[in-house]
Amino acid sequence: MPPSDGMISRKTVLKAAAALGAAPLLVGGGVALAREQAGTGRTPGLTPECHDGDDPTIEQIEGPYFKPDSPLRSSMVNDGPGTWLTVSGYVFGRACRPVPGVLLDFWQADDGGNYDNVGYSFRGHQFTDANGAYKLDTIVPGLYPGRTRHLHVKLQAPGRPVLTTQLYFPGEPRNSTDTIYDARLLMNVQRNGSGETATYDFVLDVPQSPGTPSPTATATPTGGPTGGPTTPPSGSWTPGRAYNAGDRVTYSGASYVCLQAHTAMVGWEPPNVPALWQRP
Ligand SMILES: [Fe+2]
Repeated sequence: MPPSDGMISRKTVLKAAAALGAAPLLVGGGVALAREQAGTGRTPGLTPECHDGDDPTIEQIEGPYFKPDSPLRSSMVNDGPGTWLTVSGYVFGRACRPVPGVLLDFWQADDGGNYDNVGYSFRGHQFTDANGAYKLDTIVPGLYPGRTRHLHVKLQAPGRPVLTTQLYFPGEPRNSTDTIYDARLLMNVQRNGSGETATYDFVLDVPQSPGTPSPTATATPTGGPTGGPTTPPSGSWTPGRAYNAGDRVTYSGASYVCLQAHTAMVGWEPPNVPALWQRP
């Protein structure tokens, strides 16, 4: 169930405040994360996994290549050649408050689509910082038979169960044929020079008290007529149609803004694909 506008507003502000460690940025009446605004010149937006009822990030199979005892490190770029990739984001609990000290254990294929099952190449774990943030420097994983492009990760908040899941890349031809693939785990990926920058925010099933709202919550940046009468929706969401960043559609009576260019597919309905569509 979608939260009320008031809930969205409060959580958006809490999230932005957590991200910035200061007063949130107000852009076009909305709140933007600094990381998504910096240098892009694009309409910024939140990675909205935490917008739509606080559903926890879904679980996916571990697969055959996990190894325990990976090294503590946030960079795997020297493990082999490939296209540079940075993945960053936040880990939230059920009340959309950041969770510090969450273990994230990543593993992935190398540029040739092979896992290192002898050593620890392209394997590493790290912990979210005091703001619930993580950042991994790596390469774009190669393809191997039967799967689309993906990263593996296990997450564990202190004293909580492990969540095993995978992250995906938009625009991959094999996304439509990989039976494990799930659009809810699409990262928001941007080209960045010769590399790629990806973001994804996780939501763990960690009980949280909403607590005292941040003082900045009184800014109430959403719920108003932002982008309303002067920027009407461009029509109903339609499978097969190509959308560009900034396009607006309606779906089930709600408005959405496109975050990155893609061609719509059945299964990629705006509420299901937070990497592609955001509620304005
Ligand atoms: Fe895999």
